[in-house]
Amino acid sequence: MKEKLHIIPHKHIVSKANRNMLFNHQSLVIWFTGLSGSGKSTLANGLENLLHTKGIATYILDGDNVRVGLNKDLDFSESGRVENIRRIGEVANLFVDSGVVVLSAFVSPFKNDRQTVKSLVGADNFVEVFVDCPIEVCEQRDVKGLYKKARNGEISNFTGISSPFETPDNADIRIPTNEMSIEEGVQLLYEKIKTKLDLNK
Ligand code: ADX
Repeated sequence: MKEKLHIIPHKHIVSKANRNMLFNHQSLVIWFTGLSGSGKSTLANGLENLLHTKGIATYILDGDNVRVGLNKDLDFSESGRVENIRRIGEVANLFVDSGVVVLSAFVSPFKNDRQTVKSLVGADNFVEVFVDCPIEVCEQRDVKGLYKKARNGEISNFTGISSPFETPDNADIRIPTNEMSIEEGVQLLYEKIKTKLDLNK
């Protein structure tokens, strides 16, 4: 049996509400999900830049800063991906508590894991963005040369080829990156989230 942990959380004087007041906006998780090469990081980057110029405290979580550090012990097996998203969800939750708007860009191929993060941070604090781009287009872009390697068998468990991607049914917003420019996508996203940020209060 698992050992019982005697952990009693300390109640801090400064709360999330205090921090939201200090920053003058709500904190949120903007969760980008989609295939490799669909444009998640590019959109997150563009949106972060726009929010930053509007004085909003932001932080991007994505493979570049998480899979090389916190999650460098994880692979792309199903259990590796589940644990990847579980940890990112916990980190995102801490960021929301800290008052920051988190933009998270991970393939996050499993519905169940996305739902778990949504429940953890609270549905009101979570915006699911489906970065929707046909695999043929992602493969044609092949910015990192990974699709070629996956087709050659050099990479196993590659999402969309040898590992599944579960398409979101009820994403808050869908951005078809093969049908619009990044600037248009960023603008759509901003229109969607601005009321949630309570900017005018
Ligand atoms: S997730 O499935 O666990 O959410 P994550 O977003 O962290 O994936 O990492 C995906 C990125 O890692 C891809 O954009 C790609 O650059 C790289 N990558 C390397 N191997 C794989 C693989 N087997 N499947 C998908 N992406 C991979």
